[in-house]
Amino acid sequence: MNVHIDSAAKGVFIGNRWRPSHSGRTIDVVAPADGKVFAKIAAGGIADIDEAVKAARYSAEEGPWSRMSAAERGRLLSKLAVAISDRAEELALLEARDTGKPMKQARADIVACARYFEFYGGAADKLHGETIPFLAGYFVPTERVPFGVTGHIIPWNYPAQMFGRTIAPALAVGNATVVKPAEEACLTPLRIAELAAGAGFPEGAINVVPGLGEEAGAALANHTGIDFIAFTGSPEVGTLIQIAAAKNHIGCTLELGGKSPHVLFADADLDIAVPVIANTVVQNAGQTCSAGSRLLVERSVYDKAVGRVQEKFKTLQAGTPEMDLDLGPVINAAQQKRIEGFFSRAAEKSIPVLAEGKIATGVPEGGYFVAPRIYGPVPRSNELAQEEVFGPVLSILSFEDEADAIKLANGTEFGLMAGIWSKDGSRALRVARQVKAGQVYINAYGAGGGIELPFGGMKKSGHGREKGFEALYEFSTLKTMIIKHN
Ligand code: NAI
Ligand code: MG
Repeated sequence: MNVHIDSAAKGVFIGNRWRPSHSGRTIDVVAPADGKVFAKIAAGGIADIDEAVKAARYSAEEGPWSRMSAAERGRLLSKLAVAISDRAEELALLEARDTGKPMKQARADIVACARYFEFYGGAADKLHGETIPFLAGYFVPTERVPFGVTGHIIPWNYPAQMFGRTIAPALAVGNATVVKPAEEACLTPLRIAELAAGAGFPEGAINVVPGLGEEAGAALANHTGIDFIAFTGSPEVGTLIQIAAAKNHIGCTLELGGKSPHVLFADADLDIAVPVIANTVVQNAGQTCSAGSRLLVERSVYDKAVGRVQEKFKTLQAGTPEMDLDLGPVINAAQQKRIEGFFSRAAEKSIPVLAEGKIATGVPEGGYFVAPRIYGPVPRSNELAQEEVFGPVLSILSFEDEADAIKLANGTEFGLMAGIWSKDGSRALRVARQVKAGQVYINAYGAGGGIELPFGGMKKSGHGREKGFEALYEFSTLKTMIIKHN
């Protein structure tokens, strides 16, 4: 695969310039498909984050970025969308090498990334305040204003998409951004930051400091110079982010994953449902916060439905990006081990494996491949029914009736997404309205998709909303002007 890695891994990107990290240290970048080091990224730390926050502060308050109109900001975002689209294949190759995902997934991710900049480019000048009737002799307008400097810590599962998802709305409303991408995969965010400079973003509007979570990530979350922080990742680190935000009295959004259910009633159209259900848990090797990782089936149709899902799973294959099969490897050895830990604990509890996909012949030996798997019936309290595996693993459970379905769907600590499958429209809607999740699909499911659709969690899945117009509210605050004119 011919990838322009040099252009993506030149150090830390601050004030539209590359330089090495202050410590001079680097982190090896490993290709998940073969386990081999193919690049190095800078290991940013406290000093680098501090410099990035200062560059962003200048940009937000004094530099050309601070003087731009909403329409001008929108135009720059739109230009970046075009720049990304123009280099879509190069970026997809980079994303695939860095994450191991199949090329078709990487290509779709770059399209989605460009779409974030396109959507928020168009939205930038459409966010406005209101006027409020008040006492006689007063005029009261409100205005949406940026926070100033926003911090963004993103994960490795969809580096390009996550980068677009988090910075595009923040920039649209006029913030300057500091991004700490994940050490496991961050080459596309670095490359896109460079493309943004080329598209005309003034210095300091977009700063990207790669590095370890405990170093660069913690330095950003705890920095007193940021005004807001957006985080996507594990619940454990989410807690640390919220503590840091609390200490600095700033707001945060947390997107912490899920254990999202498909609720399949006896009257569901299995021809439509089964391929979607299988895909939403193997997509990206199951490393998707909104993966549909639990299949809840009405008992009367359990054998038939499970049989169909088994058939589908047996055909699934994991391979390298170039093989372009159903899924790629998982991100690294640690995640592979974590998933295998679920497998061995399930074996100890004698939870049946209902079907397994394959690892394609000819994959490199050092790759972190995991064959997709179905477990069922999984006891309701078992970790496979409760915890996010973040791998291509579907847990099947059965329910008795509508009330039981709702109880089971809501029976985890998470609440990110859900899919309801039934031809009875009233029932599907009744159930959908009682499921505690930020997004609920009926007779469809789109893990990760839908730039226009407000997205985020309830319960342990986090709080705040990204995507759609809603993200513009998250990344801005409201100022009310009270004007007395008599
Ligand atoms: P993580 O939460 O450690 O990593 C996410 C981001 O947080 C990365 O950029 C990382 O560098 C940063 N980070 C780590 N420690 C930090 C700290 N102390 N302060 C500030 N930033 C920090 O997730 P990890 O370890 O990569 O994956 C563990 C599990 O988390 C996965 O198995 C999965 O269950 C979940 N996860 C969920 C994601 C989602 O999309 N909701 C994405 C990634 C992981
Ligand atoms: Mg971690």
